Amino acid sequence: MAKILLDCDTGIDDALMLLYLASLVRSGEAELVAVGTVHGNVDPHSGALNTLRVLELAGIGGVGVPVAAGAGRPMAQDVHYAVDWHGRDGLGETNLPAPRGAPTGEPAAAQLVRLARAHPGELTLLATGPLTNLGAALLLDPELPALLREVIVMGGAFDHPGNITTHAEANIWHDPEAADLVFAADWPVVLVPLDATHPTAVGDAWLDELAGHDSDAARFATRVLEFYVDAYTPTLKRRGAVVHDALAAMLIMEPGLAEYVERPVRVELRGELTRGATVWDARSLPADDHRRPVRVAVGGDVAGFQNRLLASVVSL
Ligand code: BDR
Ligand code: CA
Repeated sequence: MAKILLDCDTGIDDALMLLYLASLVRSGEAELVAVGTVHGNVDPHSGALNTLRVLELAGIGGVGVPVAAGAGRPMAQDVHYAVDWHGRDGLGETNLPAPRGAPTGEPAAAQLVRLARAHPGELTLLATGPLTNLGAALLLDPELPALLREVIVMGGAFDHPGNITTHAEANIWHDPEAADLVFAADWPVVLVPLDATHPTAVGDAWLDELAGHDSDAARFATRVLEFYVDAYTPTLKRRGAVVHDALAAMLIMEPGLAEYVERPVRVELRGELTRGATVWDARSLPADDHRRPVRVAVGGDVAGFQNRLLASVVSL
């Protein structure tokens, strides 16, 4: 059974991803060991409250899944929140009531190191926000890479335009220094960039089917997606939205839903126009970058992803 340690910035697509994870927990397919939150879509405290709200709604809140707030700013630049995409509250201006639970008080990076040491080789680390907590944890404990089973990151853009600048994807752009620490470390990383997530955008039929379901989880998903769909529709040029983070989570359980290439990855740290862009060496020469190759998802089974996500949400 997968034991997942999540780091996120909940966020509308993070919320959908949490519903998917909750369905796995409730069916006994996965354990959600703990969650850390980070600046990104919102500040980490708001992200932690949003995470607790979703876990409680999905029936897996409470002491079983501790939620720790983490880094409130990037390593080497000012903080920026994705208000236009996720709303000021991170959940599409729904302004939901406070959750019953509260964040633990432990810093998310400390939680990550503590749990990795307590369960060596067992945990899959899933990161669906900026990588500041992971970068800080790598600095705290140089042994961390050997302690994790796998690291799945939603982020980056290669043969695809950026979504926050011309070349950069948001999670990487929010903290390029931390992201580069993650890609430099000697651990098995699966990276799920915009190249893989954008083609999976859900559209009319999927959204209408979700809206037809009468459960707390389906109603919540429909409600938060309204704002997100409005934000995405001009970009997609049709009614729809990209549920990036859920794809990254699903590839833990069903890696065969994507195709991959394996290449060392670096983050542009100095470019005037390209800071935060992910760079790989696609030349057919022996790699002169000796970083451990990252397994990068580049496409896959769109219908498989969309059907599984819908089934998961309506199963709650
Ligand atoms: C990523 O950025 C955030 O806004 C989303 O939650 C997702 O993790 C997509 O670029
Ligand atoms: Ca996210």
